[in-house]
Amino acid sequence: MAGGAIVNTGGGKDYPGKLTVFVFFACFVAATGGLIFGYDIGISGGVTSMESFLEKFFPEVYRKEKLDTSTNQYCRFDSQLLTIFTSSLYLAALVASFCASTVTRVLGRKWSMFGGGVVFLVGAVLNGAAKNVLMLILGRILLGIGVGFANQSVPVYLSEMAPARLRGMLNIGFQLMITFGILCANLINYGTAKIKGGWGWRVSLALAVVPAAIISIGSLFLPDTPNSLIERGHAEQAKKMLRRIRGTDDILDEYNDLVAASEESKLVKHPWANIMKRKYRPQLVIGILIPFFQQLTGINVIMFYAPVLFKTMGFGNDASLMSAVITGIVNLFATFISVLTVDKLGRRKLFLEGGVQMLISQSMVGILMAIKLGTSGEGHFSKAYSGFLVLFVCIYVMGFAWSWGPLGWLVPSEIFPLEIRSAGQSINVSVNMLFTFVIAQAFLTMLCHLKFALFFFFGAWVIVMTIFIALFLPETKGVPIEEMALVWKKHWFWCRFISDDDVHERKVEMGKPNSAF
Ligand code: BGC
Repeated sequence: MAGGAIVNTGGGKDYPGKLTVFVFFACFVAATGGLIFGYDIGISGGVTSMESFLEKFFPEVYRKEKLDTSTNQYCRFDSQLLTIFTSSLYLAALVASFCASTVTRVLGRKWSMFGGGVVFLVGAVLNGAAKNVLMLILGRILLGIGVGFANQSVPVYLSEMAPARLRGMLNIGFQLMITFGILCANLINYGTAKIKGGWGWRVSLALAVVPAAIISIGSLFLPDTPNSLIERGHAEQAKKMLRRIRGTDDILDEYNDLVAASEESKLVKHPWANIMKRKYRPQLVIGILIPFFQQLTGINVIMFYAPVLFKTMGFGNDASLMSAVITGIVNLFATFISVLTVDKLGRRKLFLEGGVQMLISQSMVGILMAIKLGTSGEGHFSKAYSGFLVLFVCIYVMGFAWSWGPLGWLVPSEIFPLEIRSAGQSINVSVNMLFTFVIAQAFLTMLCHLKFALFFFFGAWVIVMTIFIALFLPETKGVPIEEMALVWKKHWFWCRFISDDDVHERKVEMGKPNSAF
């Protein structure tokens, strides 16, 4: 392991090199993988609120909505088939993320992104041309496979390409693209809903080919990461690539570290068995709970169903889609706050502030709905009252957008040591997709049964996760990934899982005379 020319920026070990234009563009193109995920999140809610779409594929829901206007507002959209349309994608993504981890490792990150983009493209064509529910759901399964591949490979790619000290910021590029994708989808829905003739939904679904083409074509121009090149035995190419992306010839330290890390990870034959070891318990628990909690904030109730939700609150068709556009704008811009502050304030402060903000605003939405709709679901909102509701929904979205949104992807990606990083990333993606599926599938039924209390249900989870962060998540800001073991050893609770030998072993492995251990 190299020891020499280390630039210490205060956060620990760092390598020479700067943010080159080349690496910036590579990360920018790769991050567009988040665009397909975001587009999809944003498009389905608007489409399922379009009458022509419901009439064609879900006539029962359409009839219920159209003919029986006096029916309970909470239950107007409760249809299992309709929710399968939204949630089938996440089940497909869950399964795909496991296959994707092998493709990402064996063929390299770029081919995983390319494959994801192409499969997503086919799914988009199938959806745009759909003649029946089967075509629709088949299309969504293909979209899901695309998302599974992209979400597995893009964060890994970004982390490997980025200079260590900018990893947080570049990682959040993925979340930025997700939010941009959601906003584009919201805007497109707003426009296509106005198309006369009942084919607006086709345009919305078919336009998913645009982000798919961007990542498919873009990935062809992407260089593979040095880590992946070394892993696949292309040592010379890796050296050349490292020089190019760091903008310096002084890359030997980093190169040697990559080779050593790759050798070390090759010794681990069974990462899945390894991850169960006691010494990895903190990472495993946090790697499972963070994506789980991220979904239990209830954010996707807003992201998938904002137009449906706003309709439930008594808004008209147009106002519902417009409100979804407003929350989309808030979501995108609030994410920039995270980009700017995550390495200064740290992860914990953002998590804790975001949690409190979400809890208060969520409770306000619940209270406002309880006052007007009560448990019967009968009632109507005045303009001012609706305005207040949208305001609190926006404050909630803002809280999520600078805390659990980006950190839900960033933190799991930075806590796993190399030998179990790929297994850890698979767990992160699949837990996230599983609970995205569960929430998407259960939301309309839950709204029908829990009524306004649904918001208190998610609020209760926000209390649990905020307490969890306060007690169990150590600050990871500025800590190099390779030195993360010390963070657990110093933590009041997790220290009991890390023996002195574990830390000692790590120190010897890393071979750093100036290490903090
Ligand atoms: C989450 C998605 C969510 C999105 C909202 C992402 O981090 O994983 O489930 O819809 O943020 O911006």
